[in-house]
Amino acid sequence: MTRVAYVNGAYVPHALASVHIEDRGYQFADAIYEVCLVVGGRYWDLADHLARMRRSLNAIEIDFTMTDAALKAVLREILRRNRLSDALVYFQISRGVAARNHPFPDSPVPPSLIVTTRRFNLNDSDQLAETGMRVISQPDTRWGRVDIKTVGLLPNVLAKQAAKRAGAGEAWLLREDDRVTEGCSSNAWIVTDDGSLITHPKTNEILGGVTRETVLACARDLQIPIQETPFTVKDVKGAREAFVSSATGLVMPVVKIDAATIGDGAPGSVTLKLREAYKKRAIQGV
Ligand code: PDD
Repeated sequence: MTRVAYVNGAYVPHALASVHIEDRGYQFADAIYEVCLVVGGRYWDLADHLARMRRSLNAIEIDFTMTDAALKAVLREILRRNRLSDALVYFQISRGVAARNHPFPDSPVPPSLIVTTRRFNLNDSDQLAETGMRVISQPDTRWGRVDIKTVGLLPNVLAKQAAKRAGAGEAWLLREDDRVTEGCSSNAWIVTDDGSLITHPKTNEILGGVTRETVLACARDLQIPIQETPFTVKDVKGAREAFVSSATGLVMPVVKIDAATIGDGAPGSVTLKLREAYKKRAIQGV
């Protein structure tokens, strides 16, 4: 079966899908994106993804006039055409195509919308979750508005590559004061010795993860105490458990940072409870 992508109003074979070389997303990273999970044919947490998309578009002043209803129709159709019911869907909106010039185009051009999808099952990461993964620490060299989900991800790419070279699954990004902000493509969490859950507050220095919100809701349900407060690498080393959250990794245990073992070096019980609760919600769609 031919894999299908959506590009500016057309469904095209994935291998042939392309945008113009002067698309501002390509030349300036002048674009935003979302990655959504589809479970059993249903988009999970879609309202939150669409709200974040609108927030990102507003923040960088892209005038995207397509309604949520019209976008949802495309998001449904891309699944149908690819015959997928368990999937990841990527969509990206750029400011559009214009002769290269830093300011926005004088006469407005239509934003470019692309959508791609691939098979993805909630259980794909179960094996890794059984052992947990290692993270390395890397300097957070990103700009001051990483709360906007732009495709300007070069610092994330370089830190993630450093992690891959080191045989780790993620890099945790540190500001000068040794604070862990988040991972390259996930939010960062620890569980303290007294069983409290800690994650960086939702500021301009992290991306407000959709999964992060759902994990917080799961924690409230499970009556796990929550502190949205900064933590350092030293705190991570002294923590009982650690994990990351994202649409792709769900809740993924972290058992080592750099050379230091976290807790007893195995996925923690609070982490596994949250992973279970998260998956249950995603399957039930509530
Ligand atoms: N990344 N922080 C960063 C920097 C991210 O790129 C992501 C997601 C998250 C978690 O957000 P969410 O829970 O909404 O997936 C946090 C996606 C998956 C990506 O770039 O592929």
